[in-house]
Amino acid sequence: MSTIVLAYSGGLDTSVLLKKYVLEGHRVVALTLDLGESDGTAGAGASAALDEVKAKALALGAYDALLVDAKERFIGELAFPALRANALYEGVYPLSAALSRPLIAALLVETAQRYSADAVAHGCTGKGNDQVRIELAVRALAPHIRTLAPLRDTPLSRPDAMKFAHEHRVPISSSVEKPYSIDANLWGRSIEAGVLEDPWAAPPEDAFAWTAPAHRQPAEPEYVEIAFERGLPHVDDLHGSRLVAELNRRAGAHGIGRIDLVEDRVIGVKSREVYECPGSIALITAHKALERLVLTRDELRFKASVDQKYAELTYDGLWPSPLRKALDAFNGALAERMTGRVRLRLHRGVASTDGTASPFALYDEKLATYGTGDRFRHDAASGFIELWGLPLELGAAVTRRESAGALASTS
Ligand code: ARG
Repeated sequence: MSTIVLAYSGGLDTSVLLKKYVLEGHRVVALTLDLGESDGTAGAGASAALDEVKAKALALGAYDALLVDAKERFIGELAFPALRANALYEGVYPLSAALSRPLIAALLVETAQRYSADAVAHGCTGKGNDQVRIELAVRALAPHIRTLAPLRDTPLSRPDAMKFAHEHRVPISSSVEKPYSIDANLWGRSIEAGVLEDPWAAPPEDAFAWTAPAHRQPAEPEYVEIAFERGLPHVDDLHGSRLVAELNRRAGAHGIGRIDLVEDRVIGVKSREVYECPGSIALITAHKALERLVLTRDELRFKASVDQKYAELTYDGLWPSPLRKALDAFNGALAERMTGRVRLRLHRGVASTDGTASPFALYDEKLATYGTGDRFRHDAASGFIELWGLPLELGAAVTRRESAGALASTS
């Protein structure tokens, strides 16, 4: 008999897994995290649903079942650092699922230590990114703990899972009938499989839960002022997970954050994924706008490549790497000046910048203006252009001379 901590969602696959481990005589600790997956919409009812998940684990014979509210930790330790990096995989996906996996791994490890468990287990299949992310993060934290991935190693077909469930009285919730595979947390909701597997097929409206279709969006724009203090956002007294939940609702009502992406998975295949990420897209839009106001041109150019690397490391399961931590330190240094305000305009599926202000703004109206009060030294521009163009002029002269020489020697 061994003790196994299982990442438990309450769905069919992990319920069957739990039951199998119990029947094999293992002590199973079921770990369920609240990462705000229902906070994109009404929010209410989410904790009740998760309480049911916990009760279900105990009913299936779990030795213990834990429900951990990890929302604040998720936002503070993962999502907001990623916000400082404007992290978007392949330029578009805010990495909602990818960011949650290192935290799931950390909580699996912490729980395993508490229960002196021999192993942790997850229900990921062999085709996705999540197995990579969870296992690498467990290894980085506690190399002596084994990670079991039974659904990868002996895949369970849906009919077999249903048959096992019927035989062993594993309750099957209505969500089994859902035509998609869904993963959601405060940073976004991902929808895959089913009809979405044809990249030419338009995502049906029933795939979406957090974002309004055009006919239900308000006709008028809505404005929201996001304040940043050293790179950390708030709206009035809303901070952290409550802020993100509120932005999911407000931006979602305007249909903001729908993403349709053919993306490159770590394991080599391309897959078609649909996302709705209203809160994270609104925040990244605002964060980028503030950066453009306060960072130098060199910082912005350099940071663009740092940001891309940050997104790749996160996606690829390398969140625990020293490089990601070093990039966080870099972003932290720039964030010293990331204090200010951004007014966003939410309208018709788009969050756009409507105004920016900061005590650290490098923007100087006296230098930028075309009106009166201009303090820019126009006379300095001609000398600047003279020297800035000098290498071009020299290079062009050499090219001309050499091609004239080449012509002369062939004639
Ligand atoms: N493709 C996204 C990613 O790899 C979403 C994955 C969602 N996970 C899931 N088990 N449905 O980050």
